[in-house]
Amino acid sequence: MTRVFSGVKPTGHLTLGNYLGAIQRWVDVDQHQADALFCVVDLHALTVDHDPARVRRLSRQAATLLLAAGLDPERCTLFVQSHVDEHARLSYLLECVATDGEMRRMIQYKEKAARERARGGSVRLSLLTYPVLMAADILAYATDEVPVGDDQTQHVELARDLAVRFNQRYGHTFVVPRATPPKIATRVMNLQDPTSKMGKSDDSGPGIVYLLDEPDVVRKKVMRAVTDSGAEVVYDREARPGVANLLEILAACSGGDPEELSGAYTSYGALKKDTAEAVVELLRPVQERHRELCADPAHVEDVLRDGAERARAVARPTVDAAYRAIGLLPAASGVREPVVNAAR
Ligand code: AMP
Ligand code: TRP
Repeated sequence: MTRVFSGVKPTGHLTLGNYLGAIQRWVDVDQHQADALFCVVDLHALTVDHDPARVRRLSRQAATLLLAAGLDPERCTLFVQSHVDEHARLSYLLECVATDGEMRRMIQYKEKAARERARGGSVRLSLLTYPVLMAADILAYATDEVPVGDDQTQHVELARDLAVRFNQRYGHTFVVPRATPPKIATRVMNLQDPTSKMGKSDDSGPGIVYLLDEPDVVRKKVMRAVTDSGAEVVYDREARPGVANLLEILAACSGGDPEELSGAYTSYGALKKDTAEAVVELLRPVQERHRELCADPAHVEDVLRDGAERARAVARPTVDAAYRAIGLLPAASGVREPVVNAAR
């Protein structure tokens, strides 16, 4: 059976970009068709300036929202990264396979590091090595497919490269994974700046739809989306990024096709209105279920505890095999083989 692994960082409240770019597929496809593991990757939230209490709160909230969105613990494994030691254990080995040049070429590192330096801050070493930890997340589970938005494809490519390199040097240990981005909405754009990604840690709230935004807030944000000065509704990502973004959001919410949908509209106003309502309807059941789950935090904790146990059992043998393959001496188990013939 195909093994699927993916994750979400608790660095901010989950957005419509997270939902359409990743979570929707986890819920609708992956958990039904594959042996799927989904992870709140809290160690990754420590790569930038962070507040410990906020990371804890956002980790719990992300897990609760993933359940509210429809992940079913009977069908998939949901857990928190730091509850499973194998991620950090394997990450170090992969640091011994990756090169610093490879790390410095990562687009997300270059962008985030430049932003941090421009603010006069310092860049944590973990921001540079983050893609190695992500590769460890993926490779520890012998993952075949990684459903992610297209901002993560370079990181998944790195995981592939490291798997191939490790296998060549030390013997076959890892499955070589591949990214599986969604067909539409691979990159949901900021409604106020349709040339940049709708990212949850960005500061510009009005351009970001959060999964827990009230319906009226969603409507306001979508109705105020920046479009261009053209009048016709055409689907052209390059020339009309704002309108294309709305068409993709509408298509991803309603199961349609952005190109076809463009023909159904003669004004931006009507397109915005339908998009707003489609998003409100998409989020309604998620928000209802989220409210119910918040009233039962013990249930979420149980799910995460069971999930971590299952995840550990899957990751352990692969990570142990990597430790042996790379040349580390296995620790004595404490259970000795009986000595049959002491003289030999
Ligand atoms: P992150 O918020 O960076 O932890 O991302 C979690 C998942 O959501 C990853 O698979 C991302 O590729 C995906 N994702 C995040 N933002 C967007 C976006 N604006 N459009 C599409 N996918 C996204
Ligand atoms: N880096 C991913 C992001 O920012 C999150 C992530 C961490 C991830 N580890 C992963 C996604 C493993 C898929 C598989 O979105």
